[in-house]
Amino acid sequence: MAKFIVGTSKGLKGNVTISGSKNAILPILAATLLTEEDCTVKSVPVLSDVIALCSMLKDMGVDIVFDKEQESIAVRAKNISKTEADYEKAGKLRGSFLIMGPLLARYKEANIPLPGGCPIGSRPVDLHLKGFSALGAKTQQAHGSIHITARQLKGDKIYLDFPSVGATENIMMAATLAKGVTTIVNAAAEPEIIDLATFLKKMGADISGEGTDTITITGVKKLHGAKHTVMPDRIEAGTFMIAAAITKGDIIIEQVIERDLKPILAKLSEANVKTEKIEEKTLRVYTAGKLQPISLKTMPFPGFPTDMQAPFMSLLSIIKGTSVITETVFENRFLHAGELQRMGAKINIESRSAIIEGVEKLTGTQVKATDLRAGAGLILSALAAEGKTEISDIYHIERGYYNIEKKLKNLGADICRVE
Ligand code: EPZ
Repeated sequence: MAKFIVGTSKGLKGNVTISGSKNAILPILAATLLTEEDCTVKSVPVLSDVIALCSMLKDMGVDIVFDKEQESIAVRAKNISKTEADYEKAGKLRGSFLIMGPLLARYKEANIPLPGGCPIGSRPVDLHLKGFSALGAKTQQAHGSIHITARQLKGDKIYLDFPSVGATENIMMAATLAKGVTTIVNAAAEPEIIDLATFLKKMGADISGEGTDTITITGVKKLHGAKHTVMPDRIEAGTFMIAAAITKGDIIIEQVIERDLKPILAKLSEANVKTEKIEEKTLRVYTAGKLQPISLKTMPFPGFPTDMQAPFMSLLSIIKGTSVITETVFENRFLHAGELQRMGAKINIESRSAIIEGVEKLTGTQVKATDLRAGAGLILSALAAEGKTEISDIYHIERGYYNIEKKLKNLGADICRVE
Protein backbone atom coordinates (compact mmCIF):
# COMPACT_ATOMS: atom_id res chain seq x y z
CA MET A 1 0.00 0.00 0.00
CA ALA A 2 1.27 3.51 -0.83
CA LYS A 3 2.49 5.87 1.88
CA PHE A 4 3.59 9.48 2.18
CA ILE A 5 6.94 10.18 3.86
CA VAL A 6 6.92 13.79 5.06
CA GLY A 7 9.86 15.71 6.54
CA THR A 8 9.96 19.04 8.37
CA SER A 9 9.11 21.74 5.83
CA LYS A 10 9.40 25.26 7.24
CA GLY A 11 8.25 28.33 5.29
CA LEU A 12 6.37 26.91 2.26
CA LYS A 13 6.52 29.49 -0.50
CA GLY A 14 5.25 29.87 -4.06
CA ASN A 15 2.05 29.45 -6.08
CA VAL A 16 -0.52 26.66 -6.08
CA THR A 17 -3.53 26.34 -8.41
CA ILE A 18 -6.65 24.78 -6.89
CA SER A 19 -8.38 21.96 -8.82
CA GLY A 20 -12.10 21.47 -9.49
CA SER A 21 -14.29 20.59 -6.51
CA LYS A 22 -14.86 16.88 -5.81
CA ASN A 23 -18.12 17.63 -4.03
CA ALA A 24 -19.43 19.59 -7.01
CA ILE A 25 -18.24 17.13 -9.68
CA LEU A 26 -19.95 14.06 -8.18
CA PRO A 27 -23.54 15.44 -8.21
CA ILE A 28 -22.94 17.10 -11.61
CA LEU A 29 -21.79 13.78 -13.11
CA ALA A 30 -24.92 12.16 -11.64
CA ALA A 31 -27.04 14.93 -13.20
CA THR A 32 -25.85 13.99 -16.72
CA LEU A 33 -28.16 10.94 -16.38
CA LEU A 34 -31.12 13.34 -16.71
CA THR A 35 -30.65 13.78 -20.48
CA GLU A 36 -29.90 11.59 -23.50
CA GLU A 37 -27.89 14.46 -25.03
CA ASP A 38 -24.15 15.13 -24.81
CA CYS A 39 -22.73 16.85 -21.73
CA THR A 40 -19.18 18.11 -21.15
CA VAL A 41 -17.79 18.75 -17.67
CA LYS A 42 -14.51 20.65 -17.41
CA SER A 43 -11.98 21.25 -14.62
CA VAL A 44 -12.35 17.64 -13.41
CA PRO A 45 -9.26 16.47 -11.47
CA VAL A 46 -8.32 12.79 -11.68
CA LEU A 47 -9.61 11.75 -8.25
CA SER A 48 -10.36 8.13 -7.32
CA ASP A 49 -13.94 9.08 -6.35
CA VAL A 50 -14.48 10.57 -9.83
CA ILE A 51 -13.00 7.48 -11.52
CA ALA A 52 -15.19 5.23 -9.37
CA LEU A 53 -18.39 7.13 -10.26
CA CYS A 54 -17.46 7.13 -13.98
CA SER A 55 -16.96 3.37 -13.80
CA MET A 56 -20.39 2.90 -12.17
CA LEU A 57 -22.05 4.99 -14.90
CA LYS A 58 -20.19 3.06 -17.63
CA ASP A 59 -21.51 -0.22 -16.13
CA MET A 60 -25.02 1.16 -16.64
CA GLY A 61 -24.43 1.80 -20.32
CA VAL A 62 -23.48 5.47 -20.15
CA ASP A 63 -20.89 6.61 -22.75
CA ILE A 64 -18.15 8.36 -20.77
CA VAL A 65 -14.78 9.62 -21.94
CA PHE A 66 -12.52 11.08 -19.24
CA ASP A 67 -9.68 13.04 -20.87
CA LYS A 68 -7.34 13.12 -17.88
CA GLU A 69 -4.84 15.40 -19.59
CA GLN A 70 -7.52 17.99 -20.31
CA GLU A 71 -9.32 17.25 -17.02
CA SER A 72 -12.53 17.07 -18.99
CA ILE A 73 -15.31 14.47 -19.14
CA ALA A 74 -17.68 13.90 -22.10
CA VAL A 75 -20.88 12.07 -21.15
CA ARG A 76 -23.84 10.72 -23.11
CA ALA A 77 -26.45 8.81 -21.12
CA LYS A 78 -28.49 7.85 -24.20
CA ASN A 79 -28.66 4.07 -23.95
CA ILE A 80 -28.90 3.12 -20.30
CA SER A 81 -28.90 -0.67 -20.06
CA LYS A 82 -29.76 -0.91 -16.36
CA THR A 83 -30.85 1.34 -13.50
CA GLU A 84 -28.90 -0.44 -10.81
CA ALA A 85 -25.38 0.15 -9.54
CA ASP A 86 -22.64 -2.34 -8.76
CA TYR A 87 -22.66 -3.15 -5.03
CA GLU A 88 -18.88 -3.21 -4.68
CA LYS A 89 -18.27 0.05 -6.53
CA ALA A 90 -21.12 1.96 -4.90
CA GLY A 91 -19.82 1.02 -1.49
CA LYS A 92 -16.58 2.88 -2.14
CA LEU A 93 -17.97 6.40 -2.08
CA ARG A 94 -20.79 8.45 -0.61
CA GLY A 95 -21.39 10.23 -3.92
CA SER A 96 -22.69 7.02 -5.52
CA PHE A 97 -26.10 7.54 -3.92
CA LEU A 98 -26.55 10.75 -5.91
CA ILE A 99 -27.49 8.80 -9.05
CA MET A 100 -30.78 7.76 -7.44
CA GLY A 101 -32.56 11.10 -8.00
CA PRO A 102 -31.68 11.37 -11.73
CA LEU A 103 -32.54 7.68 -12.43
CA LEU A 104 -35.86 8.06 -10.61
CA ALA A 105 -36.67 11.22 -12.60
CA ARG A 106 -35.80 9.82 -16.03
CA TYR A 107 -36.48 6.05 -15.68
CA LYS A 108 -38.94 6.06 -12.76
CA GLU A 109 -36.88 3.43 -10.98
CA ALA A 110 -33.46 2.70 -9.47
CA ASN A 111 -31.74 0.05 -7.38
CA ILE A 112 -28.79 1.60 -5.53
CA PRO A 113 -26.65 0.08 -2.73
CA LEU A 114 -26.51 2.04 0.50
CA PRO A 115 -23.50 4.37 0.10
CA GLY A 116 -19.98 4.03 1.44
CA GLY A 117 -17.62 6.95 2.10
CA CYS A 118 -15.63 7.91 5.19
CA PRO A 119 -16.08 6.28 8.65
CA ILE A 120 -17.04 9.69 10.09
CA GLY A 121 -20.56 8.78 11.03
CA SER A 122 -23.53 6.54 10.28
CA ARG A 123 -24.28 8.48 7.06
CA PRO A 124 -28.02 7.62 6.86
CA VAL A 125 -30.07 8.40 3.72
CA ASP A 126 -33.47 8.82 5.42
CA LEU A 127 -33.79 12.46 4.25
CA HIS A 128 -33.10 11.47 0.64
CA LEU A 129 -35.87 8.83 0.88
CA LYS A 130 -38.24 11.20 2.69
CA GLY A 131 -37.90 13.58 -0.28
CA PHE A 132 -38.41 10.88 -2.91
CA SER A 133 -41.48 9.53 -1.08
CA ALA A 134 -42.93 13.05 -0.96
CA LEU A 135 -42.57 13.15 -4.77
CA GLY A 136 -44.60 9.92 -5.00
CA ALA A 137 -41.89 7.25 -5.09
CA LYS A 138 -42.14 3.86 -3.35
CA THR A 139 -38.96 2.64 -1.69
CA GLN A 140 -37.93 -0.69 -0.19
CA GLN A 141 -34.62 -1.90 1.20
CA ALA A 142 -33.31 -5.39 0.53
CA HIS A 143 -29.84 -6.99 0.44
CA GLY A 144 -28.13 -3.69 1.33
CA SER A 145 -29.69 -1.77 -1.55
CA ILE A 146 -32.59 0.63 -1.87
CA HIS A 147 -35.07 -0.21 -4.64
CA ILE A 148 -37.17 2.77 -5.63
CA THR A 149 -39.98 3.14 -8.19
CA ALA A 150 -42.50 5.80 -9.18
CA ARG A 151 -45.28 5.94 -11.79
CA GLN A 152 -45.08 9.71 -12.16
CA LEU A 153 -43.17 12.05 -9.84
CA LYS A 154 -45.34 14.93 -8.61
CA GLY A 155 -43.93 18.11 -7.04
CA ASP A 156 -44.46 18.69 -3.31
CA LYS A 157 -43.18 20.73 -0.36
CA ILE A 158 -40.35 18.89 1.46
CA TYR A 159 -38.94 19.89 4.83
CA LEU A 160 -35.41 18.59 5.56
CA ASP A 161 -34.93 17.93 9.29
CA PHE A 162 -31.23 18.66 8.69
CA PRO A 163 -29.91 20.77 5.75
CA SER A 164 -28.33 17.67 4.21
CA VAL A 165 -26.10 18.45 1.18
CA GLY A 166 -26.68 15.08 -0.49
CA ALA A 167 -30.42 14.99 0.18
CA THR A 168 -30.82 18.54 -1.19
CA GLU A 169 -28.90 17.56 -4.34
CA ASN A 170 -30.73 14.26 -4.86
CA ILE A 171 -34.21 15.75 -4.36
CA MET A 172 -33.39 18.78 -6.54
CA MET A 173 -32.32 16.49 -9.41
CA ALA A 174 -35.41 14.27 -9.07
CA ALA A 175 -37.72 17.31 -9.00
CA THR A 176 -36.41 18.74 -12.31
CA LEU A 177 -38.59 16.28 -14.30
CA ALA A 178 -41.48 15.91 -11.82
CA LYS A 179 -44.95 17.29 -12.61
CA GLY A 180 -45.50 20.62 -10.89
CA VAL A 181 -43.54 22.55 -8.26
CA THR A 182 -41.24 21.19 -5.55
CA THR A 183 -40.08 23.34 -2.64
CA ILE A 184 -37.20 22.13 -0.48
CA VAL A 185 -37.41 23.84 2.91
CA ASN A 186 -34.34 23.94 5.20
CA ALA A 187 -32.26 23.07 2.13
CA ALA A 188 -28.45 22.98 2.23
CA ALA A 189 -26.87 26.24 0.99
CA GLU A 190 -23.35 25.00 0.26
CA PRO A 191 -21.59 26.47 -2.83
CA GLU A 192 -21.63 22.99 -4.40
CA ILE A 193 -25.46 23.16 -4.40
CA ILE A 194 -25.27 26.40 -6.42
CA ASP A 195 -22.82 24.79 -8.87
CA LEU A 196 -25.14 21.81 -9.39
CA ALA A 197 -28.18 24.11 -9.84
CA THR A 198 -26.20 26.18 -12.37
CA PHE A 199 -25.46 23.02 -14.39
CA LEU A 200 -29.11 21.85 -14.17
CA LYS A 201 -30.33 25.27 -15.35
CA LYS A 202 -27.92 25.06 -18.32
CA MET A 203 -29.70 21.75 -19.10
CA GLY A 204 -33.04 23.59 -19.08
CA ALA A 205 -34.18 22.99 -15.52
CA ASP A 206 -36.34 25.63 -13.79
CA ILE A 207 -34.74 26.24 -10.36
CA SER A 208 -34.61 29.23 -8.01
CA GLY A 209 -33.40 29.88 -4.45
CA GLU A 210 -30.24 27.76 -4.69
CA GLY A 211 -27.76 28.99 -2.08
CA THR A 212 -30.58 29.85 0.33
CA ASP A 213 -32.51 27.58 2.72
CA THR A 214 -35.49 27.34 0.34
CA ILE A 215 -35.10 25.98 -3.19
CA THR A 216 -38.00 25.90 -5.68
CA ILE A 217 -37.93 23.55 -8.68
CA THR A 218 -40.65 23.61 -11.36
CA GLY A 219 -40.65 20.37 -13.34
CA VAL A 220 -40.06 20.46 -17.11
CA LYS A 221 -40.72 17.81 -19.79
CA LYS A 222 -37.15 17.20 -20.90
CA LEU A 223 -33.60 18.35 -20.19
CA HIS A 224 -30.95 18.85 -22.87
CA GLY A 225 -27.16 18.51 -22.90
CA ALA A 226 -24.90 21.20 -21.43
CA LYS A 227 -21.27 22.23 -20.94
CA HIS A 228 -19.97 23.26 -17.51
CA THR A 229 -16.71 24.16 -15.82
CA VAL A 230 -16.81 22.97 -12.20
CA MET A 231 -16.18 25.42 -9.33
CA PRO A 232 -12.77 25.29 -7.61
CA ASP A 233 -12.50 23.11 -4.49
CA ARG A 234 -12.92 25.38 -1.45
CA ILE A 235 -11.71 22.65 0.92
CA GLU A 236 -8.51 22.05 -1.06
CA ALA A 237 -7.99 25.84 -0.99
CA GLY A 238 -8.54 25.90 2.78
CA THR A 239 -6.11 23.00 3.21
CA PHE A 240 -3.34 24.94 1.42
CA MET A 241 -4.11 28.02 3.53
CA ILE A 242 -3.42 25.91 6.61
CA ALA A 243 -0.21 24.65 4.94
CA ALA A 244 0.97 28.28 4.72
CA ALA A 245 0.02 29.00 8.34
CA ILE A 246 1.40 25.80 9.92
CA THR A 247 4.81 26.17 8.22
CA LYS A 248 4.91 29.97 8.71
CA GLY A 249 5.15 30.23 4.95
CA ASP A 250 3.85 32.62 2.30
CA ILE A 251 1.69 30.99 -0.41
CA ILE A 252 -0.19 32.42 -3.40
CA ILE A 253 -3.35 30.37 -3.98
CA GLU A 254 -4.90 30.63 -7.46
CA GLN A 255 -8.44 29.70 -8.56
CA VAL A 256 -10.31 30.54 -5.36
CA ILE A 257 -13.82 32.01 -4.96
CA GLU A 258 -13.70 34.33 -1.96
CA ARG A 259 -17.45 34.07 -1.22
CA ASP A 260 -17.06 30.29 -0.74
CA LEU A 261 -14.16 30.77 1.69
CA LYS A 262 -15.80 33.32 4.03
CA PRO A 263 -16.10 31.07 7.13
CA ILE A 264 -12.56 29.70 6.63
CA LEU A 265 -11.09 33.20 6.17
CA ALA A 266 -12.94 34.42 9.27
CA LYS A 267 -11.43 31.72 11.52
CA LEU A 268 -7.94 32.09 9.98
CA SER A 269 -8.06 35.80 10.73
CA GLU A 270 -9.14 35.13 14.35
CA ALA A 271 -6.03 32.92 14.63
CA ASN A 272 -4.00 35.89 13.28
CA VAL A 273 -3.17 34.20 9.95
CA LYS A 274 -2.79 36.93 7.33
CA THR A 275 -4.63 36.79 3.98
CA GLU A 276 -4.50 39.28 1.13
CA LYS A 277 -6.60 39.36 -2.06
CA ILE A 278 -4.10 39.67 -4.94
CA GLU A 279 -6.60 39.37 -7.79
CA GLU A 280 -10.25 38.37 -8.21
CA LYS A 281 -9.47 34.65 -7.81
CA THR A 282 -6.02 34.83 -6.20
CA LEU A 283 -5.28 34.96 -2.48
CA ARG A 284 -2.00 35.33 -0.60
CA VAL A 285 -1.78 33.55 2.77
CA TYR A 286 1.11 34.15 5.17
CA THR A 287 1.96 34.67 8.85
CA ALA A 288 3.28 37.77 10.57
CA GLY A 289 3.27 37.68 14.37
CA LYS A 290 2.09 35.09 16.90
CA LEU A 291 -0.81 32.83 15.97
CA GLN A 292 -3.72 32.83 18.43
CA PRO A 293 -5.76 29.93 19.86
CA ILE A 294 -9.44 30.01 18.79
CA SER A 295 -12.76 28.25 19.26
CA LEU A 296 -14.66 26.96 16.26
CA LYS A 297 -17.86 25.07 15.66
CA THR A 298 -18.62 23.22 12.42
CA MET A 299 -22.02 24.09 10.93
CA PRO A 300 -23.83 23.82 7.58
CA PHE A 301 -22.87 26.62 5.16
CA PRO A 302 -22.40 29.56 5.72
CA GLY A 303 -21.07 28.18 9.01
CA PHE A 304 -17.55 26.76 9.33
CA PRO A 305 -17.24 23.67 7.05
CA THR A 306 -16.90 20.28 8.76
CA ASP A 307 -14.45 19.24 6.00
CA MET A 308 -11.99 21.85 7.30
CA GLN A 309 -12.19 20.64 10.93
CA ALA A 310 -9.31 18.13 10.73
CA PRO A 311 -6.91 20.44 8.86
CA PHE A 312 -7.65 23.21 11.37
CA MET A 313 -7.08 20.88 14.34
CA SER A 314 -3.54 20.26 13.04
CA LEU A 315 -2.84 23.99 13.08
CA LEU A 316 -4.42 24.59 16.51
CA SER A 317 -2.42 21.71 18.03
CA ILE A 318 0.77 23.81 17.76
CA ILE A 319 -0.68 27.21 18.68
CA LYS A 320 0.16 28.10 22.32
CA GLY A 321 -2.99 28.30 24.47
CA THR A 322 -6.32 26.47 24.62
CA SER A 323 -8.48 26.02 21.50
CA VAL A 324 -11.86 24.28 21.30
CA ILE A 325 -13.37 22.58 18.25
CA THR A 326 -17.01 21.48 18.31
CA GLU A 327 -18.13 19.13 15.53
CA THR A 328 -21.90 19.42 15.08
CA VAL A 329 -22.33 17.89 11.60
CA PHE A 330 -20.94 14.33 11.93
CA GLU A 331 -21.01 12.22 15.06
CA ASN A 332 -17.62 10.55 14.67
CA ARG A 333 -15.26 12.99 13.03
CA PHE A 334 -12.41 13.20 15.57
CA LEU A 335 -10.62 10.02 14.45
CA HIS A 336 -7.56 12.09 13.50
CA ALA A 337 -7.11 13.33 17.12
CA GLY A 338 -5.69 9.93 18.10
CA GLU A 339 -3.14 10.08 15.30
CA LEU A 340 -2.16 13.66 16.21
CA GLN A 341 -1.67 12.57 19.84
CA ARG A 342 0.90 10.04 18.58
CA MET A 343 2.78 13.06 17.20
CA GLY A 344 2.66 14.74 20.63
CA ALA A 345 -0.52 16.82 20.33
CA LYS A 346 -2.44 17.44 23.56
CA ILE A 347 -6.12 16.91 22.65
CA ASN A 348 -8.95 15.96 24.98
CA ILE A 349 -12.17 14.72 23.34
CA GLU A 350 -15.37 15.34 25.31
CA SER A 351 -18.34 14.08 23.26
CA ARG A 352 -18.69 16.53 20.36
CA SER A 353 -15.86 18.84 21.47
CA ALA A 354 -12.09 18.61 21.23
CA ILE A 355 -10.10 20.70 23.75
CA ILE A 356 -6.65 21.37 22.32
CA GLU A 357 -3.68 22.53 24.43
CA GLY A 358 -1.16 23.91 21.92
CA VAL A 359 2.30 22.33 22.21
CA GLU A 360 5.72 23.76 21.31
CA LYS A 361 6.28 21.16 18.60
CA LEU A 362 5.03 17.87 17.20
CA THR A 363 7.43 15.03 16.42
CA GLY A 364 7.34 12.74 13.38
CA THR A 365 6.22 9.10 13.70
CA GLN A 366 4.08 6.51 11.88
CA VAL A 367 0.43 7.56 11.51
CA LYS A 368 -2.63 6.38 9.56
CA ALA A 369 -5.10 8.38 7.50
CA THR A 370 -8.54 7.46 8.88
CA ASP A 371 -10.58 9.45 6.35
CA LEU A 372 -10.06 11.95 3.54
CA ARG A 373 -9.76 15.18 5.52
CA ALA A 374 -8.08 13.52 8.51
CA GLY A 375 -5.36 12.35 6.12
CA ALA A 376 -4.89 15.87 4.80
CA GLY A 377 -4.63 17.11 8.38
CA LEU A 378 -1.87 14.59 9.09
CA ILE A 379 0.15 15.81 6.09
CA LEU A 380 -0.17 19.36 7.47
CA SER A 381 0.98 18.40 10.96
CA ALA A 382 3.84 16.35 9.48
CA LEU A 383 5.08 19.43 7.57
CA ALA A 384 5.48 21.27 10.88
CA ALA A 385 6.71 18.28 12.94
CA GLU A 386 10.34 17.62 13.89
CA GLY A 387 11.69 14.58 12.02
CA LYS A 388 10.08 12.27 9.46
CA THR A 389 6.42 11.17 9.48
CA GLU A 390 5.15 8.12 7.61
CA ILE A 391 1.46 8.36 6.67
CA SER A 392 -0.23 5.12 5.58
CA ASP A 393 -3.68 4.44 4.06
CA ILE A 394 -3.22 7.45 1.80
CA TYR A 395 -5.90 6.10 -0.59
CA HIS A 396 -8.27 8.10 1.64
CA ILE A 397 -6.40 11.31 0.78
CA GLU A 398 -6.26 10.60 -2.95
CA ARG A 399 -10.08 10.38 -3.06
CA GLY A 400 -10.23 14.16 -2.72
CA TYR A 401 -6.81 15.79 -3.29
CA TYR A 402 -5.37 15.72 -6.82
CA ASN A 403 -1.54 15.62 -7.02
CA ILE A 404 -1.22 16.84 -3.44
CA GLU A 405 2.39 15.72 -3.08
CA LYS A 406 3.40 17.44 -6.36
CA LYS A 407 1.60 20.66 -5.36
CA LEU A 408 3.26 20.64 -1.92
CA LYS A 409 6.71 19.78 -3.39
CA ASN A 410 6.39 22.82 -5.69
CA LEU A 411 5.99 24.92 -2.55
CA GLY A 412 9.18 23.50 -1.08
CA ALA A 413 7.69 20.70 1.03
CA ASP A 414 9.72 17.59 1.85
CA ILE A 415 7.14 14.95 0.84
CA CYS A 416 7.36 11.82 -1.24
CA ARG A 417 5.00 8.99 -2.10
CA VAL A 418 6.33 5.46 -1.70
CA GLU A 419 4.56 2.22 -2.70
C1 EPZ B 1 -21.45 15.99 1.76
O1 EPZ B 1 -21.71 14.73 2.37
C2 EPZ B 1 -19.98 15.95 1.39
N1 EPZ B 1 -19.73 14.84 0.45
C3 EPZ B 1 -19.13 15.77 2.66
O2 EPZ B 1 -17.76 15.83 2.26
C4 EPZ B 1 -19.42 16.93 3.60
O3 EPZ B 1 -18.70 16.73 4.81
C5 EPZ B 1 -20.92 16.97 3.91
O4 EPZ B 1 -21.67 17.08 2.67
C6 EPZ B 1 -21.30 18.14 4.80
O5 EPZ B 1 -20.90 19.33 4.20
C7 EPZ B 1 -20.09 15.00 -0.85
O6 EPZ B 1 -20.60 16.03 -1.25
C8 EPZ B 1 -19.83 13.83 -1.75
P1 EPZ B 1 -24.91 15.57 4.59
P2 EPZ B 1 -23.24 14.32 2.68
O7 EPZ B 1 -25.99 14.78 3.95
O8 EPZ B 1 -24.12 14.79 1.58
C9 EPZ B 1 -27.02 13.66 8.32
C10 EPZ B 1 -15.52 15.15 2.14
O9 EPZ B 1 -14.63 15.02 2.99
N2 EPZ B 1 -27.95 13.06 7.35
O10 EPZ B 1 -24.98 17.06 4.57
O11 EPZ B 1 -23.25 12.88 3.02
C11 EPZ B 1 -25.66 12.97 8.28
O12 EPZ B 1 -25.67 11.80 9.07
C12 EPZ B 1 -16.93 14.68 2.46
O13 EPZ B 1 -15.38 15.66 1.01
C13 EPZ B 1 -29.09 12.39 7.81
O14 EPZ B 1 -29.32 12.31 9.01
O15 EPZ B 1 -23.50 15.16 4.00
C14 EPZ B 1 -24.73 14.00 8.81
O16 EPZ B 1 -24.74 13.95 10.23
C15 EPZ B 1 -17.04 14.10 3.86
N3 EPZ B 1 -29.94 11.83 6.92
C16 EPZ B 1 -25.38 15.32 8.37
O17 EPZ B 1 -26.72 15.01 7.97
C17 EPZ B 1 -29.72 11.91 5.56
O18 EPZ B 1 -30.56 11.40 4.78
C18 EPZ B 1 -24.67 15.95 7.17
O19 EPZ B 1 -24.75 15.05 6.10
C19 EPZ B 1 -28.56 12.57 5.10
C20 EPZ B 1 -27.70 13.14 6.01
